[in-house]
Amino acid sequence: MTSFTRRRFINGALVAGAAGVVSASANASAVPIVDPSASPPEIARDEAFWRTVANNFDVTDKITNLENGYWGIMSTPVLQEYQRLSAWVNRENTNFARWDLGETYVGLRKQVAEFLNVDTDEIALTRGATEALQALIGGYNRLSPGDTVLYADLDYSEMKTAMRWLADRRGAVPVKVNFPEPTKDRQLTEQDILTFYERSLNANPRTKLLLLTHLNNWTGLIIPVTKIAAMAKDRGIDVILDAAHSVGQVDFDIKQLGCDFVGVNLHKWVGAPLGCGVIYINKDRVGDIDTYMAKSPESNKVTARIDTGTVNMAAHMAIPKTLEFHNQIGTANKEARLRYLRSIWVEKARSMKGVIVLTPDDPTMVAGLTSFRLDGVTTTEENNALMKRLATEFGVLTTRRTGPSAGDCIRVTPSFYNSPDDIHKLVEALAKITRNL
Ligand SMILES: Cc1ncc(COP(=O)(O)O)c(C=O)c1O
Repeated sequence: MTSFTRRRFINGALVAGAAGVVSASANASAVPIVDPSASPPEIARDEAFWRTVANNFDVTDKITNLENGYWGIMSTPVLQEYQRLSAWVNRENTNFARWDLGETYVGLRKQVAEFLNVDTDEIALTRGATEALQALIGGYNRLSPGDTVLYADLDYSEMKTAMRWLADRRGAVPVKVNFPEPTKDRQLTEQDILTFYERSLNANPRTKLLLLTHLNNWTGLIIPVTKIAAMAKDRGIDVILDAAHSVGQVDFDIKQLGCDFVGVNLHKWVGAPLGCGVIYINKDRVGDIDTYMAKSPESNKVTARIDTGTVNMAAHMAIPKTLEFHNQIGTANKEARLRYLRSIWVEKARSMKGVIVLTPDDPTMVAGLTSFRLDGVTTTEENNALMKRLATEFGVLTTRRTGPSAGDCIRVTPSFYNSPDDIHKLVEALAKITRNL
């Protein structure tokens, strides 16, 4: 506790100027300042504000990147902090870790818990959402052989695999259900999703565990988690929630969703360095998740439910700077901006021949991430070809997604540094491609 490093670390944030380390604020662009009298939809259209935001991102000029769903580019202030911390951790090595790592993580967890509006003892830091969700699914210990565990086609591949693995691990019966698909003329509604889950649960009365993905990575659909979780609770069903894409992209409160087990990452929409995730377990439910591979079986701590080994501590230690930058913009403003950028191309695409937009326009059901399919173009090969054409012929980066039961699609995911002009490039490309359909 008396080491040199300790004095440089306050509440999980390293004070700039540690020996031999460049100040984190060097070369940073002007910070974005939100007009407190403006609403998120107004801020969403304030191009001067978003240009200031964009100036804080160093992005490739080789292509227009509308594929920001894989992970989020760090802002320059966060990148600089991460680089500074990497150098510092490398230099101090165990002179830091052996003395101060535990306390450092107490501070980090506290800040992340405040950000998520949960208690510090309800979370642990992980390397990502996959790690958190695999620990939750594999560790959930209230299943008896023969119990049904339910997941959907639009859940994330690794979590679907983990749900299937519960057959081996717990003798459970995994059941996959397929979301309804929109058509060219009919968008999905909240009621469609509620009816879908109600029917799925009615058809599988032995369901004990339900996996939900708040904002799925295939189509960007946001599902009414609070209502589905309440429906599940009425039937004695627990929910594990994948919030990898919603935290930072959508303004919500984890506690209000009514899910006791949640996996999150901070390296998509919050803008942390790669390798930052969170496992959340409601403090009254910690015992329902096994300690990780039976380590410390008596422990009642969330931290005993996950074992990350030696992590990239510099990445985790950059979380305070990440949250500072994120909060300068604000989740509600990020959400509104992404939805606005998305609306620019979707409005046009809906009127184009042969384009089916898979994600509804209802603002409670979509934020920035949206997918489309050319009518009848459902194979991986065809969609790979379309993705490549968009990139090579039109200079627009998107990605092909394989997941929805009805077939593959193309996902478009703008970020905070994208401008309406970037989106217009996609519109022009789609207009040219569909002209000859
Ligand atoms: C819905 C969803 N869940 C989980 C993950 C995995 O997140 P991570 O990379 O943090 O493990 C992703 C990543 O794309 C995702 O889209």
